[in-house]
Amino acid sequence: MKIGIDKIGFYAPHLYVDMNKLAVARNVEPEKFTIGIGQEKMAIAPITQDPVTLAANAALNILNDEDRAKIDFVIFGTESGIDNSKSGAVYVHHLLDLNPNARSIEVKQACYGATAGIQMAKGHIALNPESRVLVLGSDIARYGLNTSGESTQGAGAVAMVISANPKILALEDKSAYLTVDIMDFWRPVYSDKAFVDGKFSNEQYIHFFNTVWEQYKAKSDLALNDFEAICFHLPYTKMGLKALRTVLEEANEVDQERLLANYKSSTLYNRNVGNIYTGSLYLSLVSLLEQGDQLKDGSRIGLYSYGSGAVGEFFTGILQPNYREYLQVEKHANLFAARTEISIEEYEAVFQETVPVDGSTAEFDATKDTAAIYLAGIKDNMRQYVTKKN
Ligand code: HMG
Repeated sequence: MKIGIDKIGFYAPHLYVDMNKLAVARNVEPEKFTIGIGQEKMAIAPITQDPVTLAANAALNILNDEDRAKIDFVIFGTESGIDNSKSGAVYVHHLLDLNPNARSIEVKQACYGATAGIQMAKGHIALNPESRVLVLGSDIARYGLNTSGESTQGAGAVAMVISANPKILALEDKSAYLTVDIMDFWRPVYSDKAFVDGKFSNEQYIHFFNTVWEQYKAKSDLALNDFEAICFHLPYTKMGLKALRTVLEEANEVDQERLLANYKSSTLYNRNVGNIYTGSLYLSLVSLLEQGDQLKDGSRIGLYSYGSGAVGEFFTGILQPNYREYLQVEKHANLFAARTEISIEEYEAVFQETVPVDGSTAEFDATKDTAAIYLAGIKDNMRQYVTKKN
């Protein structure tokens, strides 16, 4: 039985900052951010968007009534969740009006969470072929104003329906994975910003990639030329390129050109959104599928997932017949076109406006937020979520 991605969509908040302007404000050459890091625009979450609303908005765009009835498992991958006890999945389950006979959980391992969700979903569907599983990867990446990580922030979510006989990507069974306890990036529960050893994290990302890639080749008997494209977890778009370059010479010139061209297509959306942590690899996949016009049905796509701390995995999927018909190209083009640029001063003000943590009541002004689902405030330590009426 084939199991894989039947539907996929993403959501990014309606505000962004131009990286050229951020560079000027931080006294660095714009090319450092646009070429050295490889980012053009950084999505900024207003106070009315949190990882729950981002995930719900992403899912809203792909679900129909049949999905609502058949989804019996919601897996919410996040590392910027809003509660240490209750899962974001339960809120999303309610906001999307899903079938009550469902399991709903949150999964955490830095940017690897959604991949863990997909593998869990695969096992669930193998036992329950009629089921559909909603896998979400949703995060707001925060390092702090004027920090070296600032240019690699972002916000957004990816939603996927995993099912039997998927219309988009059938996942293959071979996979290679690795866990090593390292401190390259972490966020203690008392901090709303991540701590990071930037250079070390870059090195480990590549080391994990090289390790799981070697393991994968040994397990599968496949080689680089068997891949039409490889999608990477993209904390910033230059990162995946650095990893790809370490193995590129394993392929002939024609294959190298194809892999590099497809790599470019797989970074277009991320370049304009930033790091969305656990959703980043899947935003890259959406970008490749929607912008890679050379891709053919039946092609093999490699996926490299990396979550600091750290867990890495390399796995693969095969593009299904007529997969293009099931993508959300127009919706995503409209989403990008409808965003509003904010100045660096406005971004700094938005960054510093956070949800109260002292039990006080707050109401947020969502008149400018274009999202269908938003956070209206907090009362009695409970977040108040609202779905706009059409
Ligand atoms: P930095 O010190 O600001 O930048 O840190 P840099 O000095 O290393 O420069 C960055 C690049 O810009 C370099 O390119 C420069 O040469 C280039 P490279 O040599 O690396 O290829 N550069 C220029 N290029 C063109 N024109 C110029 C110019 N000037 C410089 N004028 C760093 C950068 C990414 C370390 C920092 O932003 C950071 O710490 N970010 C957060 C950590 C991160 O993203 N790590 C990635 C791997 S870990 C991961 O992916 C997991 C993660 O998503 C978390 C999770 O799993 O939950 C982060």
